[in-house]
Amino acid sequence: MNFDFTEEHLNVQQAARDFAQTELLPGVIERDNEQKFPYEQIKKLGELGFLGIMVDPKYGGSGMDTISYVLAMEELSKIDASASVVVSVNNSLVCWGLETYGTEEQKQKYLVPMASGQVHGAFLLSEPEAGSDATSQRTTAEDKGDHYLLNGTKNWITNGNSATYYLVIAQTHVEKGHKGINAFIVEKNSPGVTVGKKEDKMGIRGSDTHSIMFQDVKVPKENRIGEDGFGFKFAMKVLAGGRIGIAAQALGIASGAYELAVKYSKERKAFGKEIMHHQAIQFKLADMATQIEAARLMVMKAAYLKDQGKDYALASSMAKVFASETAMWVTTEAVQVHGGYGYVKEYHVERLMRDAKITQIYEGTSEVNRIVISREILR
Ligand code: CAA
Repeated sequence: MNFDFTEEHLNVQQAARDFAQTELLPGVIERDNEQKFPYEQIKKLGELGFLGIMVDPKYGGSGMDTISYVLAMEELSKIDASASVVVSVNNSLVCWGLETYGTEEQKQKYLVPMASGQVHGAFLLSEPEAGSDATSQRTTAEDKGDHYLLNGTKNWITNGNSATYYLVIAQTHVEKGHKGINAFIVEKNSPGVTVGKKEDKMGIRGSDTHSIMFQDVKVPKENRIGEDGFGFKFAMKVLAGGRIGIAAQALGIASGAYELAVKYSKERKAFGKEIMHHQAIQFKLADMATQIEAARLMVMKAAYLKDQGKDYALASSMAKVFASETAMWVTTEAVQVHGGYGYVKEYHVERLMRDAKITQIYEGTSEVNRIVISREILR
């Protein structure tokens, strides 16, 4: 077993760390307060190749592995989870899905601009009545011969307004249940697409989460991904990889909060000495570090399995459950280490605590991921 990173891994980790410090940290509190999407920062991340990390260079990507992606996600998420979720959705859900299952024409037309970071995408599965229960799609895609007619509403869509292209999951043959679902590439500026209300969220407030409405939207037949009826499997495959990205995001949020707690404990004095000399704080830091290390090993294992072409659905759900629960717990402890200062925005840990919560909810709640895990282990 080799725990060493390659030079390429260390380089991408350092590049992401530098970017987070110089480009994401300034203004992160303001963007959170004002719910401002990090347009400039995402443009620069695109130019540096972070929006298509795993995509083949012939389609505009950086041609790196999943370990590199996870390392970048961790570093970006330490500082700004609102920016890193854009990176995660575009890399895992949108680009990976298109590169793996798209046609050559789809890749040239849609993957190249998204992997090279000129624009980015969104993944539209969740609906008002189909969040965890993803087979119950109400959005319909009626087969009209040379095109499909799309009608319905999607909810809680990350990148809902900022994205240029959508991957939309919709029901074509109701009588076939999940086997009648399809996935489509839809251009956001198509007639009949309406970007609905922006959600006022607890965390990742810089990211744009919207409902999206489709009313008689014409989608060319060549924009369907895979065979007729492949849409649900497509969504599940894509989400298995996406969960590695969100697990890495949770890991980054936890690590960011832990690093701030360590720094603070070396500066803050109480009862005549720096608080790091109090065992109450030492034990907290030791437990935080241990949980984070366990989460990191699980996230890396899931990424490694994916890179080896092995089955990773179980490992990715396990990593996501554990890392997201670690993020919630570690950020709460980090606020506690900071005392009153932890409860105000200036010290960053309260934002990380709010951001941590979403990692237990999106790309499958902790409960849904436990369903995936229990089915795999009881098979
Ligand atoms: N790979 C391939 N196929 C898979 C699969 C996988 N990983 N997982 C399931 N499938 C297949 C099953 O084999 C089955 O196919 P067959 O009928 O041919 O055997 C089919 O899919 C249906 O599977 P289930 O019977 O298991 O379906 P279910 O309804 O009982 O439960 C579920 C499935 C796991 C609960 C699923 O609905 C699910 O994952 N729900 C959560 C959805 C989710 O994660 N949403 C996130 C939205 S995107 C997002 O959050 C992005 C963002 O904002 C950042």
